[in-house]
Amino acid sequence: MKYKSSLENNEKYHKHNPRHVAIIMDGNGRWANKKGKMRILGHREGFKAVKKAIRFSLINNLKILTLYAFSSENWNRPLFEIKSLMELFSYALDSEIQNLKKYNIRFKVIGDIKYFDKKLQNSIYNAEKMTLNNSGLILNIAANYGGRWDIIQSIKKIINKVQQGVLHVNNIKEKTLSQYLSTSKLLPVDLVIRTGGEKRMSNFLLWQIAYSELYFTDVLWPDFNQNIFQHAIDTFISRERRFGGFKKYEK
Ligand code: IPE
Ligand code: IPE
Ligand code: MG
Repeated sequence: MKYKSSLENNEKYHKHNPRHVAIIMDGNGRWANKKGKMRILGHREGFKAVKKAIRFSLINNLKILTLYAFSSENWNRPLFEIKSLMELFSYALDSEIQNLKKYNIRFKVIGDIKYFDKKLQNSIYNAEKMTLNNSGLILNIAANYGGRWDIIQSIKKIINKVQQGVLHVNNIKEKTLSQYLSTSKLLPVDLVIRTGGEKRMSNFLLWQIAYSELYFTDVLWPDFNQNIFQHAIDTFISRERRFGGFKKYEK
């Protein structure tokens, strides 16, 4: 019985627009390189593509847009690029805060941001606080995010509960781990889009994408636009999500 009802739940949004889209925004460096520009100019152009993706999400009534902005492995880059990315993030936050309010967007960051400088951390907390009561699109930015980090920080919280005696080991379920992930309050990820041609997750949401649909495009992130976003959505809608079950064919 339980099996049947969970299938029915999933079918509720089958063949509809995704509610939660997550994007791995890759290819800024190559975009700049092709044009003989510095990588940071690719990132700046990438910020324009971010605004296009947000506009599309608003027009199409998506509930959640999660954007992979900085991975826990991106610290492997030259210091200059890291600093430039942080500056761009700060600038983007300060310049867009009014628009977040205007368009009723709730801003949220997932990731281990304590490694960012204090000013950026404060801008993040401030934007989260100022948009907390907005009821429209949730704009969820993954910054210093790693899927493995997310799972580990959830496990730590679970162990804490076990040690406090409020949770028994036998009661640790899949739901328990999900409850302590950074995405716990968000709807499931329906669709992951990756630009830039690579076909890998690069430590983005790992646990969360068990049944997400994946869409890869060679388009470099700064060239991303509404048409490509629409194509990804159309592809999503045309797919059959079975969640391990099967389609009931008409007789
Ligand atoms: C993605 O573009 C943006 C971040 C990782 C911050 P890249 O900087 O990875 O661009 P490519 O992959 O080198 O082209
Ligand atoms: C993934 O892109 C991270 C972000 C888009 C923020 P990367 O460019 O870091 O991924 P790899 O190194 O090609 O796997
Ligand atoms: Mg890359």
